[in-house]
Amino acid sequence: MKMRLDRWLTTLGAGSRSEVKTWIRGGEAAVNGRIIRDPALSFETETDALSLRGKTLDGRVVRHVMMYKPAGVLTAARDPKQPTVMDLLPPVYRSIGCMPVGRLDKDTTGILIFTCDGEMNHRLLSPGRHVEKVYRALVRGTPGPEAVAAFAGGMDLGDFTAQPARLTILSAGAEVSLAEAAVSEGKFHQVKRMFAAAGHEVLELHRRSFGPLELDPLLQEGGWRELTSAELAALHRAAGIEESR
Ligand code: URA
Repeated sequence: MKMRLDRWLTTLGAGSRSEVKTWIRGGEAAVNGRIIRDPALSFETETDALSLRGKTLDGRVVRHVMMYKPAGVLTAARDPKQPTVMDLLPPVYRSIGCMPVGRLDKDTTGILIFTCDGEMNHRLLSPGRHVEKVYRALVRGTPGPEAVAAFAGGMDLGDFTAQPARLTILSAGAEVSLAEAAVSEGKFHQVKRMFAAAGHEVLELHRRSFGPLELDPLLQEGGWRELTSAELAALHRAAGIEESR
């Protein structure tokens, strides 16, 4: 993305607009090894090499992240009282406008994607795109074929009717059971509400995949990494975005 040098540095959170202008004019910023004293010169943020005050900066302003969301943090950009998923990322991700794609409840764990691409974010959440999410749920009781049929039939949840979803029972116990639900929409508390409508309280909920992306088994709870280019290409396809973008 082409961006003026002063804007590029402020977007990265390197300093205020007036600070970065002073640094640039003072010869403290370099691009591709050359000192640049004009704050209005534009550069390619994703490919040009940037340094400021003797330090190399990662200049990319378009980044995409996979996080293993832990329980106990809100999926929100910020919150005055409670920790949010954004607090688990270095501050630069907030500066460049990376946002979570959809929400997981505070007590839900598992894969959460972040992107700076607002259009991709929007498209991945659009009900018409049917991006499937797979949740593993520890539930009270023993869901049987009637629960599987209810999920498949599109459940009436009062204020909306859920799209048909796939329910697989992984292990059935008298007290608690483990099941997996594949759903293509993401209404508030949707999976918990679907299980509740089938008569089963969700005790623990974990999302193991989001569209084409599986939670990286190497990530620890609270850990994150950037998406690989293959993962990003798969996400673009799921969002219906042309590869050439
Ligand atoms: N459905 C829920 O009920 N909770 C989540 O966190 C995600 C999907």
